[in-house]
Amino acid sequence: MENPFKYGGVVRGTYFADRRSEIAELKHEMKNLNRVFLVSPRRFGKTCLLLNLIDSLKRNGFACAYIDLNAFPDIRSLAAALTSGTSKALETNKDKLLKIFSGFQRLRPKVSVDQDGTISAGVELAFDEREALSALLEGMGHAETLAAKKGKKLVVIIDEFSDLEKYNGYTMEKALRSEIQKHNHIGYIFSGSEQSVMLSMIRDRKRAFYKLGRIMELGPIKREAYTNFILNWLKKGEYKIGGEGFTRIFDIGDDVPYNIQRLCNVMWDAAAESRQIEPSLIEKLPIVIARQDSPHYEMLWHSTSQSQKVLLIALSKDQTAKPFSKDFQLTHRIGPSSSIKASLDSLLKKGILYKTLKGRYCFTDLFMPYWIDYIKKQIR
Ligand SMILES: Nc1ncnc2c1ncn2[C@@H]1O[C@H](COP(=O)(O)OP(=O)(O)O)[C@@H](O)[C@H]1O
Ligand SMILES: [Mg+2]
Repeated sequence: MENPFKYGGVVRGTYFADRRSEIAELKHEMKNLNRVFLVSPRRFGKTCLLLNLIDSLKRNGFACAYIDLNAFPDIRSLAAALTSGTSKALETNKDKLLKIFSGFQRLRPKVSVDQDGTISAGVELAFDEREALSALLEGMGHAETLAAKKGKKLVVIIDEFSDLEKYNGYTMEKALRSEIQKHNHIGYIFSGSEQSVMLSMIRDRKRAFYKLGRIMELGPIKREAYTNFILNWLKKGEYKIGGEGFTRIFDIGDDVPYNIQRLCNVMWDAAAESRQIEPSLIEKLPIVIARQDSPHYEMLWHSTSQSQKVLLIALSKDQTAKPFSKDFQLTHRIGPSSSIKASLDSLLKKGILYKTLKGRYCFTDLFMPYWIDYIKKQIR
């Protein structure tokens, strides 16, 4: 039996744990064609949730288009993707689709042949970059008209929405808002991991998306439901659990779904022979993962300066620490605060640390402190 605890990509169907209430809530919002901002830190499972939601919405007769802003460096490519995505969601007949694509003013049809020989149609910008935003709005407006004509509810999901700022900023935001507000046949979900960016986009009166929709903060998967999911698979694999069970996994993984999947995946393999899961095994799992990911951590490590390394070592020992406190600086013999500030800023920029909304500095990758601990022991 293959390892059922998948990580890294999108998990679907029986490999997808719980999220029932979140899916029900989002479905309800989409039935009413509302606008929802889905916010959580990275790796909490937004993308997985959204793609499973789409599966479910499609079964209920909705048309759905999914766009990940990460994949589109400029408005030109975004306009093309969003327009062809929404049109394809609403029209499956290829001839009719091509006719739709030929009807745009600023976009023109583009037919391409995939590697496996299938022909697919899309659109591209017909004019230069200056027309890109107008083309995007034309495409969005058309989606609304087509949804009305087809008598269908369309759900448009924009993932990594906090990336919106990389386009031409406020002009784009304002134009999008006024377009979206005209739509009566489209429900929108905007999802993003940069919590502070997302929240300031929505809560700041001066920003275009102020109160455009409700905010749904995605929390961890509830332990009880996640435990049942894990237990079910372990039972299918004929694993036995000793000791107190595996609540510890949730503590070690800080309840972040990516971490939990990773830990369970390693646990499944580590106990493949004995089919026995003991508390001592669970304690070893993060170290196994730290070693598996060692090349990645080495690369990150080499990208840091000496003082950043010293700070990372100190933080890895004491993750709840306040780096600007006298206590912390004396214990680890680092400082002054100004140089710590510079190091922290650089580590945030590199993505090694992230700052929580409460102002704490945490490792982006929870297993990295285990790796730091491991190499320190090697050096000694
Ligand atoms: N409901 C779930 N069931 C199982 N695994 C999940 C679930 N949600 C998230 N994961 C795990 O977490 C990883 C990251 O999820 P993802 O949806 O990419 O997070 P986000 O979009 O919030 O950054 C996935 O690759 C998967 O391993
Ligand atoms: Mg994501």
